Amino acid sequence: MSRRYPEFEGRCVFITGAASGIGAAFVAAFAAQGARVAFLDTNRDAGEALARQYGARFHECDVTEPAALAATMGRAISELGALDVLINNVANDQRHPADALDPQTWRASLAVNLDPAMEASRVAYEVMRPLRNGVILNLSSINAHLAPANMAAYVAAKAALIGLTKALAREWGAANIRVNAISPGWVVTERQLELWLTPEGEAEWMRQVALQRRISPEDVAKLALFLASDDAALITGQNFIIDGGRT
Ligand SMILES: NC(=O)c1ccc[n+]([C@@H]2O[C@H](COP(=O)([O-])OP(=O)(O)OC[C@H]3O[C@@H](n4cnc5c(N)ncnc54)[C@H](O)[C@@H]3O)[C@@H](O)[C@H]2O)c1
Repeated sequence: MSRRYPEFEGRCVFITGAASGIGAAFVAAFAAQGARVAFLDTNRDAGEALARQYGARFHECDVTEPAALAATMGRAISELGALDVLINNVANDQRHPADALDPQTWRASLAVNLDPAMEASRVAYEVMRPLRNGVILNLSSINAHLAPANMAAYVAAKAALIGLTKALAREWGAANIRVNAISPGWVVTERQLELWLTPEGEAEWMRQVALQRRISPEDVAKLALFLASDDAALITGQNFIIDGGRT
């Protein structure tokens, strides 16, 4: 359990792609603070189980369908009663060599890694603007800076999210809506353990970082809590790196 932020009691939080990984840690962290939490994902079994565990509301939705995303958010917001915090978390880190990024593959990557953040933010703005209050957090990545091989579309999307963060923060600041990005390093999630994290890969990572410990989804959730809290009331348009000192 992280420190207590009493202001989250009763606040309404919506998270995309949160049935597993870092998103699931966001659900747990905000629910533990007394917030009302709703989230979407394509993974119904994991989503329903997580929702039951934390008293959150799960919505099955594929974010690559913009109309479905907007409709799902609309339903979720009316059930929640308001929207104070949006976390644009969904992503797919599938890898392709750059020369395999034909128009269809490129578009499919941006459709999950970039487009939903704009559409969800647009829907959130409509609700937040009249109340002159809101927080939007966009999950970018240190890979936006490091640009590892075979991730050109993901890297481009994550870099674009930092630009989008700054643009929305500038335009929506007058409505007291704060927009910030979080750029994690290598976070040890179920998917990373299953697909990408090898002992050799982890040893190499540890040689490159300052702090010799794994980054957990909960570490990232603690940063999100702070950025969404009233303690961060004057922080907007920024990108926060949490990578144990890799970059
Ligand atoms: N794990 C890391 O090391 C790491 C590092 C840097 C940045 N990030 C970023 O943090 C965020 C969370 O990462 P993660 O590692 O927890 O991801 P993850 O792949 O473990 O989880 C992503 C979730 O999104 C869901 N999802 C995927 N496609 C979807 C779609 N089309 N519609 C709806 N839901 C969909 C998946 O079912 C899954 O539950 C992402 O934006 C990621 O790019 C992660």
